[in-house]
Amino acid sequence: MGEINVITGRGGTGKSTFTALFARYVYAKPLLLIDLDPDESLAKMLGVDLEKEGKDSISEALSRIIEKGRKSRGKDDSPDLLRRMMEEEKIIYRDRKFDLITLGTKFAPGCYCLPDEMIKETIRNIQAHYEMILVDSPAGLEHLNRKVTPEINDLFVLLDPSEKSAKHIERIKYVTKGVNIHYQHFYLVGNYRFSDEIETYLLRSGEKYLGRIAYDPLVRERNLKGESLLKIPEDSPSSLSVKKILQEAGYVLV
Ligand SMILES: Nc1ncnc2c1ncn2[C@@H]1O[C@H](COP(=O)(O)OP(=O)(O)OP(=O)(O)O)[C@@H](O)[C@H]1O
Ligand SMILES: [Mg+2]
Repeated sequence: MGEINVITGRGGTGKSTFTALFARYVYAKPLLLIDLDPDESLAKMLGVDLEKEGKDSISEALSRIIEKGRKSRGKDDSPDLLRRMMEEEKIIYRDRKFDLITLGTKFAPGCYCLPDEMIKETIRNIQAHYEMILVDSPAGLEHLNRKVTPEINDLFVLLDPSEKSAKHIERIKYVTKGVNIHYQHFYLVGNYRFSDEIETYLLRSGEKYLGRIAYDPLVRERNLKGESLLKIPEDSPSSLSVKKILQEAGYVLV
């Protein structure tokens, strides 16, 4: 059964950038990436244009299922259609190094209950096919409440150098405990704006602090242009620091 590793943190801390570089440097075959963020930015960072590839997010697929169901006056069976779509490779993008599934933007007002249920079922169905599943999360804690991944191997918390980030650590522990999410390891990662001062504080906090991601103008530039992070040089500051962080957590690198 593939291990599930989740990247979480406050808004704009660098979660998706870290996820993309994680995917690039970790040795895991086969590897599945899941983007839970409705802004769907991970695909771009991986150089993937899902629309051009003819792929749907889970929410888009559901929207289509419901529309079809309406047209056939409720004769369609949603879970079955989802399975059919999986077989048709409609919601899964396959690359040489990884596969990618995105949750997408919800199609109707209200909660994410139905798309969440669908992605949970999808993970249950395909987890055994992967050595590793990496999950990029939306900002904040809401996604934890939704309990899309109740059993996590490594939980990575991306931190910016603010007091709120320090409080965020406690909030994550509180929420995961409250909703019964289990994790094997709880890892803290400093983002590219980290200071020595907050690093010293975290090193004394008793939590496992893996290090910080270096500021990298190339990352900024590529993200601004919507270009892939998979081709930035292996010895760039972001690459070197992410590789160091992954090694610190005990991962084998490519
Ligand atoms: N190592 C880095 N060096 C320079 N800029 C970076 C680095 N990592 C991330 N950034 C920049 O920080 C911004 C936020 O990054 P990213 O989108 O990865 O964060 P996020 O936590 O996924 O955001 P969101 O909460 O919106 O999902 C982007 O403009 C990105 O280019
Ligand atoms: Mg993101």
